[in-house]
Amino acid sequence: MFESLQKLQIDPIFALMQQYERDENPQKVNVGIGIYRDIKGKPFVFDCIKKAIGCVRNNNFEYESMGGNQQFLAHTAKLFLGEDFDSEKLSLQQACGGTHACRLFADLYLRNNILGSVKNKPKILLSTPSWGNHFGIFKDFEVVKFSHLDENKAFNFSEYLAQVQAHPNSVLLLHGGRTHNPTGENFTLSQLEILAEKCNENQVFVFVDFAYLGLGKSILEDRKYLQILYKKCVQMAFGVSFSKNASLYKQRLGALFIKTNGVNEKEILESNQQNLIRESLSNLPIYPAEVMNIVFENFYEDWVSELGLVCADIALRRKRLLGPLPARFSYLKNGQGMFGLLGLSQAQVLELREVYSIYMMADSRINFAGVREQDFDYLVHNIKKVL
Ligand code: LMR
Repeated sequence: MFESLQKLQIDPIFALMQQYERDENPQKVNVGIGIYRDIKGKPFVFDCIKKAIGCVRNNNFEYESMGGNQQFLAHTAKLFLGEDFDSEKLSLQQACGGTHACRLFADLYLRNNILGSVKNKPKILLSTPSWGNHFGIFKDFEVVKFSHLDENKAFNFSEYLAQVQAHPNSVLLLHGGRTHNPTGENFTLSQLEILAEKCNENQVFVFVDFAYLGLGKSILEDRKYLQILYKKCVQMAFGVSFSKNASLYKQRLGALFIKTNGVNEKEILESNQQNLIRESLSNLPIYPAEVMNIVFENFYEDWVSELGLVCADIALRRKRLLGPLPARFSYLKNGQGMFGLLGLSQAQVLELREVYSIYMMADSRINFAGVREQDFDYLVHNIKKVL
């Protein structure tokens, strides 16, 4: 049995992390996987999360409904959209992290296509580069690729408009907020307004993968991206994650929200999502949702201020590393969030890895939030060396 299967490579982000862990060079630097570590390189857990964990009631681990924890979903919808949304028209579903929110959306969309006997695969417009896993999650779609950056490494807004125009009735995937994985460059708010109109004209469904709320500038600033799309787009959904902005990585906490045209459609979507959950996980892990509820209800201001410090620290590390690098990297100063693409060749990336034990992704994506105090000079010195 299983003769048709072959051994697969593990995901490049996780493969790189393992390679880093095996490296015995004491000067090794991990700027690969997107994790926020403190300046000494230690795993970071928000204080408010530690306090909330201390408050979780541990006397009931029974199952919850397949939709997940409704209190958590209500808090999260408000966190991302503010007060200004119609809860009767928003379909809610807890997910095991942002990846699972994307997966649920893909499965729901595909199920609708199959049940509607649509012959062609649904089309998704996926700009490149993007988070590598998007290509896996949406592999059962017809994937239309186009460039997120232009030849001058600036955000390629006109290409987005052209793709939407050229592919009516498709899905467009966007990264939420001011951040983008891996480039660090994303839409301005006024560009989003124009894009939303273009999507409506062409019946394009907008799906936002929002994994970094609060890590671009602030919760209030970052969520404006979503508020515009939610308000303007006729067809839209968004997946969210609490991995980075609440340090809950392996606890897997996320959610999927879909804008509907009313209670009837909301009920149809929620029942289908719950059915997908029942057939895959049966039930969701509720513990991290309970932790986050305690943060929302008791430590919200603490979380906002800690997140503000983390966000400022990432911006500072970005600036500190880019400052002494040659002018060819100065375009990265416009970027936001954890990531940026250094624009190095594969050979230069490999040289940095093999000779200097500096681990960045093969496309030269660097995680600024992984740079430790002792790494700045070492990185600058050796990046200059391989140019
Ligand atoms: C990353 O892009 O490095 C992070 O989002 C971690 C992951 O799951 O890939």
